[in-house]
Amino acid sequence: MSDSGKKRTAPAIVDMKSQGQKIVCLTAYDALLAMLLDQSGVDLILVGDSGAMVFAGHKTTIPFTTDQMVYHTQAVSRGVQHALLISDMPFLSYQISVDDALRNAGRLIQEGGAQGVKVEGGEHMAETVRRLVKMGIPVMGHLGLTPQSINQFGGYRLRGKKEPESEEIRKDAKILEEAGVFAVVLEKIPSALAGQITASLSIPTIGIGAGPQCDGQILVTHDMLGLFEQFKPRFARQYVNLAGMIREAVIHYAEDVKKGDFPGDKESY
Ligand code: KIV
Repeated sequence: MSDSGKKRTAPAIVDMKSQGQKIVCLTAYDALLAMLLDQSGVDLILVGDSGAMVFAGHKTTIPFTTDQMVYHTQAVSRGVQHALLISDMPFLSYQISVDDALRNAGRLIQEGGAQGVKVEGGEHMAETVRRLVKMGIPVMGHLGLTPQSINQFGGYRLRGKKEPESEEIRKDAKILEEAGVFAVVLEKIPSALAGQITASLSIPTIGIGAGPQCDGQILVTHDMLGLFEQFKPRFARQYVNLAGMIREAVIHYAEDVKKGDFPGDKESY
């Protein structure tokens, strides 16, 4: 976790790997939750396109647009003082051309206030990563289960369980490192494979369903807080049941209103 007071940067996150410090990452889509994560010492906050599902109620991450990601990034940036703020590049905002990728990444940085962006994919993204990095934009990679390819994968199954898929992920991680990413997210791959990749790279790996050997961990905040009940991946540890607590509080409030117990003297003028 970050020393309070110091603003995290991409190079500082890279240094955490060489210092053997685990990197704590979570997602946020709004200022309030971002502020709570930041105050709790999270090292990296990702404005994930998972917000399409847990914030906007879509079935996949695909519907989020660059305009929406800019809006959410602006909101999150108002709540963050210490954590490194990374924003997801949404589907088709970076795959059509390198120029498009640069323009859209620039919007997330310039209008949104992000300090870097995340893109999904390996070898085929290398040229884009090189250009963004050359233009001064820190880039995070994302390999394994890449949710923007869900229609091609046909489901959220474990990736890289067998060859040649595992070798492809190993190779992609090396290619992304050479292209200049400062870190790479490994999603839903076997622990042993994530361990091999982590040992082979000098940049940090951030795991989500990729076992304990990664240099850092990320979860969708709404999963670990027990707010998102529609889909519960096995890899997401739930630390509190906020959905249940919210329902209980609202039922209590409704009872008070119906009984005429709210507002009382203290809440009236
Ligand atoms: O969109 C997202 O929240 C992500 C993380 C889960 C890595 O990509």
